[in-house]
Parts: sequence; structure tokens; C-alpha cells
Amino acid sequence: MLNIRIPATSANLGAGFDALGLAVSHYNYVRMEEADGLTIRSCDETAIPTDESNLVYISAQTVYLQCGKTLSGLVIEQENNIPMTRGLGSSSACIIAGMVGANMLLGQPMGIDDLVDLAATVEGHPDNTTPALLGGIVTSVLSGGRVHWVKQEVDEHLRFVALIPDFEMKTSEARACLPHLVPHRDAVYNLSRAALFSASLLSGKYENLRAAVGDRLHQPYRMPMIVKSQEVFDAAYAHGAYAVYVSGAGPTLMAIVSGEITDFVPCMRHELDMLGLTAWEILDLSIDNRGTEVIPDD
Ligand code: HSE
Repeated sequence: MLNIRIPATSANLGAGFDALGLAVSHYNYVRMEEADGLTIRSCDETAIPTDESNLVYISAQTVYLQCGKTLSGLVIEQENNIPMTRGLGSSSACIIAGMVGANMLLGQPMGIDDLVDLAATVEGHPDNTTPALLGGIVTSVLSGGRVHWVKQEVDEHLRFVALIPDFEMKTSEARACLPHLVPHRDAVYNLSRAALFSASLLSGKYENLRAAVGDRLHQPYRMPMIVKSQEVFDAAYAHGAYAVYVSGAGPTLMAIVSGEITDFVPCMRHELDMLGLTAWEILDLSIDNRGTEVIPDD
């Protein structure tokens, strides 16, 4: 059986709405083999669709169709560690798992660029699917059905601390609350900061990151839907975070923190508890520079 490991992802990174995303060290695992008929199992408590509406299956089927092949069926086993509908790329992980798995089963007829393009087309935007496949921080633009992308590796000592609320936020709803038009000055505000973010992260000029995650395109509209998000931002900055932003469409808040601040997580646990956010989970993560991998059987 193929065993595929797919990282969680964090998109937007403040100002880079629909364009920037990075992979972090938290993983889903999908085991897959061809079969007659469809069998889908969850290896943990996570409830997943076990019929043809399963996103891993749909994505595998998409690759077979694209390659002009017939899929007789699959056995799929899913270990879902990435929290669902929380802004950490759980649906992108399913799409990438299905596509990478199907491509392997077919003898890899599709190249990396083909997979990047197809995954972004299925998801609708490339900022989660591309880093889920490639790892690192990825800048990507979907234009004319093709993704133009650059992947760059990030310092593995930097921490990405995910502060994960106990409620879901559907991407469709989090996009529905955004304005159709924004003032020219807001567009300029964001594009300058998105450019500053990548340059600062990659050059190690981390003191710029707080200014670079400033955003006027989505966070001001989404943060009111995330209870006490401003208080959590303030607490993370008070404990020394370089930057805090809404991860993807939310509701997870992501803090970028120096590896030298060793008590950041216990301090934030205390702060969340003091704010009454005792059900929020904290994951202490680093960058994943490798992307999706097929793990050999023991
Ligand atoms: N860029 C997307 C959004 C990410 O913010 O809506 C969603 O996964």
C-alpha cells in the first residue's frame, strides 16, 4: 500500500491573501491502493465521508480522468491529524493526498507542475495546495489555469505556534464576508506588506514581520467572527511573537516566534485560559521544507 504524508499549511500570512502559504510540521497520513470497488476507513476518531463524496477519492479520480484512465476502485485509509475547517489546510491535504497517490499508482504520468495546477484548480486558490505539495513557503499565482510559483526554504529554528479555536469556520463563509471592492490605498497597503513579508522572512529580518502581516483585505472582516482574537493577538505580541496573523480563512491564529523564546507556549496557554478560551488547542510547530512524501513501507 502507498503511505503518503501530507503537511498542514497556513495561507495568506497576513497581507498575502490567496498568494502566500507555507507548510508546517503537522501531518495527515493517507494509505492507498487500487481495488475493485471503494473502501474508505478512518484510522482515528475523525468522521470522514466513506463514499464517493470523499475528497481524497474525488481527487484521485480527477487524476485518473485527466490521464484518460479508468479507476476501478480504491482502498483508502486516512489518519487525520490536521484539524478540519480551522484554517490549517485540511481539505488541501486531502486533495494533495488523492492526487499524489493516484499519480504514483499510474506510474507518475503527471509532473509536479501538472499536479500543482490541477490541485489549485480543484481548490480554487493555490495558497494551501501548493505548499502542501512542495513544502517551505510558496508564492503562487493562478493565472489562465496555470500556477506560477516559487518555493523557498525557511529557517527550521523558527516556531509557528498555532492557536486553534474549538469552533469551525468554513472557507466559503469566511470568503462571503469579504467586500467586492476595496479602496486603492488598501490594495497598496497589502501589496507592499506581502512583498515585505517574503523578503523579511527569507533574509532573517524577522523584526519586520509585525509590520509585514498588516492586512486590510481579509483579517478586519474575519477577526470579528473569531471570539477574543484581538486579545489573543495582543497577548502573543506581549510574549515576544515576531508576528501574529489569521491562518488561512481562520479561525486559527498563527504566531511566528523565535526558537529562543522557550516559554511562549506555556505563557499562551495561561493567557488563553485567563481569557476563558480553555478549549483552544495549541500546536508548537516548525516549517516543513519537504512537502508531501510517499513513505516507504517498513
Ligand atoms: N486564501 C484563502 C482565504 C485560504 O483566505 O480564503 C483559504 O484556505
